[in-house]
Parts: sequence; C-alpha cells; structure tokens
Amino acid sequence: MAEQGKVFVFDHPLIQHKVTRMRDVNTPTKEFRELANEVSLLMAYEVTRDLPLSDVEVETPVQKGVFKEVSGKKLALVPILRAGLGMVDGMLSIIPSAKVGHIGLYRDPETVEPVEYYCKLPEDSASRTVILLDPMLATGGSAAAAVSFLKERGINDIKFCCIIAAPEGIQELHRQHPDVNIYCAAEDEGLNEHFYIYPGLGDAGDRLFGTK
Ligand code: URA
Repeated sequence: MAEQGKVFVFDHPLIQHKVTRMRDVNTPTKEFRELANEVSLLMAYEVTRDLPLSDVEVETPVQKGVFKEVSGKKLALVPILRAGLGMVDGMLSIIPSAKVGHIGLYRDPETVEPVEYYCKLPEDSASRTVILLDPMLATGGSAAAAVSFLKERGINDIKFCCIIAAPEGIQELHRQHPDVNIYCAAEDEGLNEHFYIYPGLGDAGDRLFGTK
C-alpha cells in the first residue's frame, strides 16, 4: 500500500497572527496582499526545512573552515492561477533562485472536470522539487488535477503549499496523490454549500486582486 501523504500545519505565532488578519473581512486589499506575501515567506522557511545540506570549504577573514550549504535538487514554484500568484513573491524573497512556472485550470461546466487552459513550466522541472501553490485547498479537485498535469510532464517530486486547507480538500488530494505532502497555515472546519472554506477568508483571488 502506498504511504499516506503527510499534512504539516505551521503553528508559528507569526503565521497564525497574520492569517487571522487575512481572515478579517475588514482587511483591505493592499494589506491582504502584503500579509499573503509575509505568510508565504514564513511558510517557505518551513517547507524547505528538509532540504539536504552538504559540506563546503570557505575561507573566512580569519581562517579556512568547512561549513554547510544547501545541496540536492533545485526548486521550482508553480502557482495555480490566479490566487496562487499571491504566494510567489513571498516565497521568492527567501528562495530567490527558484524558477517559476504557471498552471491555469478551469472547471468544465458540463463535465465538472478541471481542464488545463495554461501551463508553462521551467524546462528542467522534472529534475526539480516543485512547490505547487494555491492559498485555498477547498474541494481538492483543482489541486489534484494540477498535480496530475505536473506528473504527466514527468514531475514527481511535488509539495503542495496552501494557506488554508479544508479537511475535504486534504482527503481528496491525498486520495488521488498520497505521495504529495501538504503544507498549510491552518486547517479549517469544512466547506459550505458554495464550496467556500469556513470560517476561511473568502475568495482569495478576489481579496488579493481587489476584484470584489
Ligand atoms: N477558493 C477560495 O478562494 N476560497 C475558498 O473558500 C474556497 C476556494
């Protein structure tokens, strides 16, 4: 039996505080966007905690020594359009050498299946660890479809990173892709009848881009 994917909920006080500010319906677009950047930066720190290190010799102004540097696979960030864009800059601010791809999905109104309408990835993505970004893991349908599209392109080392996850989304993503670990800042209570996460923070895309 395949190993069940893990869920990491980051309970750092700064992350919790900032997500609470994001939830507040009175938080304006500018501040919401800044908070999304800051939360993503802090999450990048946690998501990269297991990066392998190797020894490197460095000469300090005082003497030579052997120190640690990040080694192993390079990283790529792949936001799911459009709300995933709100997590890119924060992550890039501490992993600036990561490459960035984009994936766009819409739900076919007849089949209700996710359809890919845009996908542009770094050429060497298959040799990278891909951090797939979407602030809200709601039903898990888009996230699971995005992972499938990445796997079809030979990408098999995938981490899914969101700000708020619903239990339904976690279950569905792990049902389809038990190999993908999920990283989030909060696990909320569930989905309402409109498939919004509750208590949630509303529509992340609208709140990021001020479209509502
Ligand atoms: N997408 C959002 O932006 N918010 C939700 O609550 C669910 C999906």
